[in-house]
Amino acid sequence: YEINCEPLKDLIRTVPDFPKPGILFYDITTLLKDPAGFAQLIDAFAAHYIGKGIDLVLGTEARGFIFAPAIAYRLNAGFVPVRKPKKLPAETAKVSYDLEYGSDSLEIHLDAVKPGQRVLLVDDLLATGGTMQATVQLVEKLGGKVEGIAFAIELDFLKGRNKLEGYDVYSLLHYND
Ligand code: PRP
Ligand code: MG
Repeated sequence: YEINCEPLKDLIRTVPDFPKPGILFYDITTLLKDPAGFAQLIDAFAAHYIGKGIDLVLGTEARGFIFAPAIAYRLNAGFVPVRKPKKLPAETAKVSYDLEYGSDSLEIHLDAVKPGQRVLLVDDLLATGGTMQATVQLVEKLGGKVEGIAFAIELDFLKGRNKLEGYDVYSLLHYND
């Protein structure tokens, strides 16, 4: 079954002109601190993926870390962090991705995913899709099978979903502007 998350939008604060003029920021901290709201969000993710044989739930630093471990716990799966450069201590795989200005990169431990493991990728937000596209590349470098990609929020108008074509993308909440 699917949980209707629409009412949770009332708990998300909108901040105009953050981080730059003209950008409307959807601030989930007001939702996270609401016990029932946070529980419903995790329940909704769990309901969608329970029984799908997920071995690992992967979260991308920093805001992916808010959701991925809680979902992993509910699915009896392990949690894997994807981190910003030079944070992980053991051997890593690395991938670079483009930002509006310049580029950034992400790393994963080489032994974090074993070939054939079924991985759910989680982040708070799908905007342009660059971050998640890079995360997918990391998992596939290691031979992991991307079983699903989940977001709390998707900004439909940025069409980030196009960068994730061919994958099963699921977002709890959608915004059109
Ligand atoms: C934000 C957000 C997503 C990403 C979405 O992360 O948490 O990870 O942007 O944007 P995209 O779809 O255009 O790639 P950010 O890099 O700002 O850092 P944070 O998670 O460390 O706050
Ligand atoms: Mg992020």
